[in-house]
Amino acid sequence: MTPAVSDSDLDAVSSLQVTGAGPARGSLRVPGDKSISHRAVLMAAMAHSPTVITGLSRGQDVTHTLGAVQQFGVTVAYADEGRVRVEGPIRHEPVDVLDHGNAGTGIRLMSGVCAGIDGVSVLTGDQFLRRRPMDRVAEPLRRMGAAVDGREHGRLAPLVIRGGGLTGITYSPRQASAQVKSALLLAGLSATGPTTVEEVHPTRRHTEEMLAQFGGRVRVDGNRVTVEPGELTGTDIAVPGDPSQAAFWAVGALLAPEQGEVVVENLYPGFGRSDFVGVLRRMGAAIDFDLTTGTLVVRSSRLRAVDLTAEDIPGIVDEVPVLAMAAAVAEGTTVISGAGELRAKESDRIASTTRLLRAFGVQVTETEDGMVIEGGARLRPARVDSHGDHRIAMTAAVAAACVDGTTVIDGWDSVATSYPGFAADLVRLTGASAQPGA
Ligand code: S3P
Repeated sequence: MTPAVSDSDLDAVSSLQVTGAGPARGSLRVPGDKSISHRAVLMAAMAHSPTVITGLSRGQDVTHTLGAVQQFGVTVAYADEGRVRVEGPIRHEPVDVLDHGNAGTGIRLMSGVCAGIDGVSVLTGDQFLRRRPMDRVAEPLRRMGAAVDGREHGRLAPLVIRGGGLTGITYSPRQASAQVKSALLLAGLSATGPTTVEEVHPTRRHTEEMLAQFGGRVRVDGNRVTVEPGELTGTDIAVPGDPSQAAFWAVGALLAPEQGEVVVENLYPGFGRSDFVGVLRRMGAAIDFDLTTGTLVVRSSRLRAVDLTAEDIPGIVDEVPVLAMAAAVAEGTTVISGAGELRAKESDRIASTTRLLRAFGVQVTETEDGMVIEGGARLRPARVDSHGDHRIAMTAAVAAACVDGTTVIDGWDSVATSYPGFAADLVRLTGASAQPGA
């Protein structure tokens, strides 16, 4: 007899085998928002009085940020009901290397924090993170006065930052990137004079919103955000559910023409995170997102193709893989363009999404900055690789749950970076069976 595998064991398996049963049905809460969680930990560590955080993401990405702030002497204590108490402030350089694991948000935001500290910090991460571009934060932080070095002239981690003595700047990042914006705003807290970031396309505003919660002086004026130097004051933070994780269940309900129905409660309702709802509505989905309660409701619908362009991408930057899977079963041809930034994510998401869809039997053409997806596919079981990318693995899993037969997802353990317990939720909501793959 095969020994029983517990739900939490399925988070750690390198391959997950999923035998499909049907679309997602049921209600759930998803983990605390990853973007908000990173910011809560970093600002709590910088603040001059303690902060208590509830609902913090338990994913490995945020766990790495918690580990990193402790290198500065910040204390982290786990209280009851999942509350985390963080007491700083950061006063000195870290005692050891800051390891951010797979977390692009963690390392980029922490670069901004380190630039403001008088001393030397070394930041690194796993094999995937060490391939991701860091010059987008290194270059403006140098302009503010930090010395930033690393492999390939500071383009790649490990990065060495000698911080302190910063001067505020006005900067327009080439990419629409909340990570770059946030790194500069966090550095700006210890600069002389204001720091202003002007965005090409507006991106998620968690840093702006949370700086205000921590008593920071921040002004938003259209696409311009300015922070004044100053100290932060600890506060209580309640982290809402992560809309990007809810997107998997929305599509998980929509991949079948009937019987799918999902309710996700307590999601972050603010700017720049739920544009996937509008995209799915444009595709014909019966979907509703209540901005006062943060409740998402979605029901099986006949989907049609959609055109997604550069204007759409910043608001769905993390949802493109799963939206591409929805496009695969929609009627008509979906064209995604202006999405070149996806090549710099946890994997090259244009290439990894194309490979994923093809493995499930979808006709798809990769372009330089997007893909063309022929809809109306009848998905077939597949063997796929996450390429170390949690969002590719979770997209594969919701598709696998709707397919007759057995799919194997290699690189499943990447899901633990953001969504421990995903396999257990998959089994509960879809009736699929999941076990370690061979
Ligand atoms: C994030 C910003 C986005 C997103 C990432 C989280 C953030 O990255 O893809 O998952 O928390 O600021 P970019 O800023 O590089 O687009």
